[in-house]
Amino acid sequence: MPSSRTASALAHPNIALIKYWGNRDDDLRLPANGSISMTLDALETRTTVSYDPALKADELLLNGETAPAGVLRRVQGHLDWIRSRAGLTSPARVDSRSNFPSGAGIASSASAFAALTVAACAAAGLDLTLEELSRLARRGSGSACRSIHGGFVEWHAGEDDATSFAELLAPSDHWELADVIALVSHQPKLVGSTEGHIRAASSPLQAGRLADTPRRLRLCRKAVLARDFAGLANVAELDSNMMHSVMITSAPPLAYWSPETLRLMHAVVDWRSEGLQVFYTVDAGPNVHCLCPAGDQAEVSARLMDLPGVHQVVTAPVGGAARLVPTVG
Ligand code: DP6
Repeated sequence: MPSSRTASALAHPNIALIKYWGNRDDDLRLPANGSISMTLDALETRTTVSYDPALKADELLLNGETAPAGVLRRVQGHLDWIRSRAGLTSPARVDSRSNFPSGAGIASSASAFAALTVAACAAAGLDLTLEELSRLARRGSGSACRSIHGGFVEWHAGEDDATSFAELLAPSDHWELADVIALVSHQPKLVGSTEGHIRAASSPLQAGRLADTPRRLRLCRKAVLARDFAGLANVAELDSNMMHSVMITSAPPLAYWSPETLRLMHAVVDWRSEGLQVFYTVDAGPNVHCLCPAGDQAEVSARLMDLPGVHQVVTAPVGGAARLVPTVG
């Protein structure tokens, strides 16, 4: 039977429309720039945390299997912040399950650390505000601070730990968009985002990208609030291309696009020029996120499935906030 030291939470991943790439402080995950995202329904991570004094050390199950040591260490570090805040010393058992492939350009660390933060705080008896939860989630994985909220979300870069957190820009029912994700690879990426953020500063293009970010944030905010699809398409594609320009010019270079990625990006631009409302954005992986009005998702999905190299298409409407759920089992 779960004791009062057990809690379970569910969180969704999010897709960044204005991307987070590079940190001013890698340990605290204070980002080099602010970012804006859309939380994704249908895809989810469910995590149960149980503090148990009888355990010798923290235990982590990922999709039913013992987690690799590196992942366990990262989760332990996160639990340590929460335990020290709650004045707790017990080891924890963490059981985390996601319904989508991890490490392939769908931000699994965002939903994972958002769900872990909400469950671990509740199990520790901490009653935190959304702002506090977002700041804590940020320390586990930067993009996780945005998954605390549903709908359209802005992460303020801030100056320090206290001022760097995500806030709601518009709720999930503000605009019926969908993210139609074309999977061209299920392979875990060779270089993860954490290492990528460290490399960002080595690109001579990062300074230009950062200098222009306030302008892109303004354009994106305005397009989201006005439900201006063409405006959002222009700024989101530009922002994705600017991040990948930094990636391929970092030392050593990071090339996440595959030939299929580029083929899909071209196809999406062609479809838009023919009148279909759709734009692409690509995270730290080869898969292509195609955003469109929810009413066009079947058409976009069918067109993507017809392209060579597309293994699978996953569709996600706009999702809700991270939340506590009943513990099962
Ligand atoms: C390309 O949040 O995954 O998806 O803080 O090291 O966990 P860590 O990095 P992470 O980086 C996300 C990078 C991105 C862009 C974005 O989601 O903003």
